[in-house]
Amino acid sequence: MARRKKIYEGKAKILYEGPEPGTIVQYFKDDATAFNAQKKDVIEGKGVLNNRLSEFFMSGLNGIGVPTHFIRRLNMREQLCRSCEIIPLEVIVRNVAAGSLSKRLGIEEGTPLPRPIVEYCYKDDALGDPMVSEEHIAAFGWASQQDMDDIVHLALRVNDFLSGVMLGAGIRLVDFKIEIGRVYDGDFQRLVVADEISPDSCRLWDMESGEHLDKDVFRRDLGSLTDAYTEVARRLGVMPKSSGPSKPTLIN
Ligand SMILES: Nc1ncnc2c1ncn2[C@@H]1O[C@H](COP(=O)(O)OP(=O)(O)OP(=O)(O)O)[C@@H](O)[C@H]1O
Ligand SMILES: [Mg+2]
Repeated sequence: MARRKKIYEGKAKILYEGPEPGTIVQYFKDDATAFNAQKKDVIEGKGVLNNRLSEFFMSGLNGIGVPTHFIRRLNMREQLCRSCEIIPLEVIVRNVAAGSLSKRLGIEEGTPLPRPIVEYCYKDDALGDPMVSEEHIAAFGWASQQDMDDIVHLALRVNDFLSGVMLGAGIRLVDFKIEIGRVYDGDFQRLVVADEISPDSCRLWDMESGEHLDKDVFRRDLGSLTDAYTEVARRLGVMPKSSGPSKPTLIN
């Protein structure tokens, strides 16, 4: 069998060339990093959970007409996606103050925001993904005004969908980050939600206890990351088939 071509290896995923032109395969690794990769660990099973959870969110979005790169899951760690040209921005939507917003503006974590706030960071690890404004984005040509209108619209639709899904699972969607890609259909280009949507890229708090069910568990050493992600998967009815202790089988 021919070896498939690796396109890119990032901190959390590996991208391979897909089986057909215009497709890629995303392989979800168990590696966890935080603070621009200054903190690193291998969390067994994280990749499997994120592959499943990202499938769940992306296919849900496809189902309500929010275009994403997701085509289908291939196995426990891999999914087939449309290949896109990633816009070099992290698009962040916040509903509740936390993390860098709390630090920057001195707003206590947990304070509900008067309305969802969309922020942008320029994707550049060497610079530590600095926050930028629409002015920078337009001036440096990272996205056009039309793209920006589409990006805000996509981000807010993702927020509505994810908030609702989480609410049903007793989870508060504090904030999340998405990446947007361009796909070309002949002479036309359109924008789709790309990369991943998982507890690595969201802040999720238990509605009752406020317990963290996201990557902050790793960032802030709050306990087992696998347990937190497994809990999210369980509440959403997305359990990886091979996880959990296997039951003894009776052999006749
Ligand atoms: N459909 C897609 N087509 C092309 N590239 C994609 C697609 N979806 C995600 N990507 C890119 O694939 C990479 C996924 O790897 P990973 O998340 O591990 O990267 P990373 O270490 O976080 O680095 P980066 O700073 O580039 O996001 C990211 O660079 C992401 O932008
Ligand atoms: Mg990434």
